[in-house]
Amino acid sequence: MTAQIIDGKALSAQLRTEVAARAAALKAKSGITPGLAVILVGDNQASQVYVRNKVKACEEAGFHSVLEKYDAAMTEAELLARVEALNNDPTIHGILVQLPLPKHIDDHKVIETISPAKDVDGFHVASAGALMVGEVGFKACTPYGCMRMLESIGMKDLRGKHAVVIGRSNIVGKPMAMMLLAANATVTITHSGTADLGAMTRQADVVVAAVGKRNVLTRDMVKPGAVVIDVGMNRDDDGKLCGDVDYEGVRQVAGWITPVPGGVGPMTITMLLVNTMESAERAAN
Ligand code: GUN
Repeated sequence: MTAQIIDGKALSAQLRTEVAARAAALKAKSGITPGLAVILVGDNQASQVYVRNKVKACEEAGFHSVLEKYDAAMTEAELLARVEALNNDPTIHGILVQLPLPKHIDDHKVIETISPAKDVDGFHVASAGALMVGEVGFKACTPYGCMRMLESIGMKDLRGKHAVVIGRSNIVGKPMAMMLLAANATVTITHSGTADLGAMTRQADVVVAAVGKRNVLTRDMVKPGAVVIDVGMNRDDDGKLCGDVDYEGVRQVAGWITPVPGGVGPMTITMLLVNTMESAERAAN
């Protein structure tokens, strides 16, 4: 039996249609258009593409979007001043500073300057803390998108399920583990210091691979029927986009699998729209 595919592109399209309808309803009711500001500093090629896609998605959903591009020589003080100005701008409901930033700018300081009320990336310590203690706050977009993918296959409540997360980044691994825990899963976090990764993943009903390295999860490491979510975005030897999972091998044993491309990737931007929508609705109330 081969795995069923969790189609992130189709699910994204459906969720973006719902968000566009919510945006239109909010505008009709309160005259408010959801607004996202994206700040890009420097000329990182990958960041340019990500940022363009974010702005395009906003426009398609009927949002107001502002893209501020700055030279790599921008000082930290100048960037902090821009963030402060956007914090105080009532037409902006979400602020995203694209990472990585040039080396002379402290990422942490910039993220902590974003108002938690506009932290639609969910990277602020207050957002991470809210997730940890179960309070209202913005959830980091990539793991939030993974949760919506699980929900789409009837796995909203994970009581009795064992979820194994591979990776412990602040952006994906750690918030992913917290969201799985909040959904009642029994959660194991594995990482580069884990002695026998396969021994862990073979126990998993759900595996989330978020390492940034090819073939981290192979067929022999997966329990038959397990759900496999691949957050990786890597290039293979031919320059083709691939995930962290050996897709061809793992799909022979898994019950469900997310492809790369067309899996988690489109969901990340979709959840950014969902968070910005939510922020605008909160501002209206
Ligand atoms: N760089 C790569 N992914 C992201 C993201 O989701 N948000 C921000 N702000 N920067 C990124």
